[in-house]
Amino acid sequence: MLGARGGWQALRRCASLPREQRAVRLRVREALGAREPAGEVKVQGWVRSVRSQKEVLFLHINDGSSLEHLQVVADPSLENRDLTFGSAVEVQGKLVKSPHRMQNMELKAKTIRVVGPCDTWSFPLKMKERHPLEYVRQFPHLRCRNNTLGSLLRIRSEATAAIHSFFQDNGYLHIHTPIITSNDCEGAGELFQIETSGEARKSAEKTHFFNVPAFLTVSGQLHLEVMAGAFTHVFTFGPTFRAENSQSRRHLAEFYMVEAELSFTESLEDITQVMEDLFKTATNTVLSKCPRDVELFHKYIAPAQKDRLEQMLKKKFVIISYNEAVEILKQASQTFTFKPEWGCDLQTEHEKYLVKHCGEVPVFVINYPYDLKPFYMRDNDEDGPQHTVAAVDLLVPGIGELCGGSLREERLPCLESRLQRLGLVDAYQWYLDLRKFGSVPHGGFGMGFERYLQCILGVDNIKDVIPFPRFSHSCLL
Ligand code: 4AD
Ligand code: MG
Repeated sequence: MLGARGGWQALRRCASLPREQRAVRLRVREALGAREPAGEVKVQGWVRSVRSQKEVLFLHINDGSSLEHLQVVADPSLENRDLTFGSAVEVQGKLVKSPHRMQNMELKAKTIRVVGPCDTWSFPLKMKERHPLEYVRQFPHLRCRNNTLGSLLRIRSEATAAIHSFFQDNGYLHIHTPIITSNDCEGAGELFQIETSGEARKSAEKTHFFNVPAFLTVSGQLHLEVMAGAFTHVFTFGPTFRAENSQSRRHLAEFYMVEAELSFTESLEDITQVMEDLFKTATNTVLSKCPRDVELFHKYIAPAQKDRLEQMLKKKFVIISYNEAVEILKQASQTFTFKPEWGCDLQTEHEKYLVKHCGEVPVFVINYPYDLKPFYMRDNDEDGPQHTVAAVDLLVPGIGELCGGSLREERLPCLESRLQRLGLVDAYQWYLDLRKFGSVPHGGFGMGFERYLQCILGVDNIKDVIPFPRFSHSCLL
């Protein structure tokens, strides 16, 4: 009959109906995956194509459950004015084997009800057109009805589940870290401050809802470190916000970050191993769970990405030090807009060059200059004091930085003196407490979820991998 799981679920859904109305309600995916013809079924969705012939009316309908549409075959007498591309319909009939080679099942319609008509003239999406991503970006409230965005959103959902599974399967505890916080984890001052609408009006009086300034979080790391004082493996996966004044194709004001923290960890290699395992395991899961959706991107959006990704999954990631990276850049025949110098941050052009130099595989750059990095990173004893810190960035082909992490400074005197120099001792008393009571060597990392999706799909603009293009000039929501 139906695919075992889908059929059982569908039967459960209709069990409460009176016998004469008991058409099994099926999702498009379930109908397409059915192994044998079924009795009376009902499918609901949106019309993706209408083709009326003298003898027969063909519809394709989609309900978001799969990239493939379900073909509906009907008598032309069932056609009506409202049955157009984009309209919402409910089709009842029999699920039968399709005579066409390309599809397994089709729905022989007995009734077609238009639930919500669609004015095709003013509807910005057009039948059978492959709209470019730039075009659909103009319609943030309608673009999920387009095949490409449909695939993206299914992939995004599977990738989220795959990341959660990776951590849960490896014994990590999931922590909901706060979104409203009073600290600036990265110390870069790229914070969105929050206030009530009343406070905004009275801003001159400087009253705060929480009595102290509050911000949207830039990272859940410090809160994860609290938890790493009781649980050896923790992770969080939530929204983060940065007020970076960057209109680049890799930056968002609101993005999702996956973060992990590991206690009793003395070496950066323990952290890089988790990053590499996470990337490879989650990506393999996504590729096996939604192959057709990924194929759409690799075929039509970024044709070179399939091979590139295969190489990334097959090969071991490379590790180089920041010192080596600067040497490689200095010896490059290419001229950079930003001259590579020890002590300066790596720019995107540098990151791309390094990845190419290492054979277009992901590259970990470790041990950055002390002054470049936030206060929480561990001072390296080998070349120190205060020369380099045990930091790591993962650079990937086509994107640049995908992950940032470090060992954390677990030694109270080192952390205290660094915070003192920054004038942050009072604000971070609670953080210093973590080093007073059972402090252990620990470390962790954060991976930008949207950049991760860009990396597996080859999407150039980060705004095309989010459900809603928030606060861009074309945002209507
Ligand atoms: O390198 P970052 O700033 O690291 C941290 O925030 C650490 N506290 C994480 C940790 O150790 N727990 O950010 C981590 C990643 C970056 O490598 C990048 O992929 C992504 O977050 N990211 C952004 N993605 C989209 N838009 C932005 N504006 C981003 N800023 C950072
Ligand atoms: Mg970083």
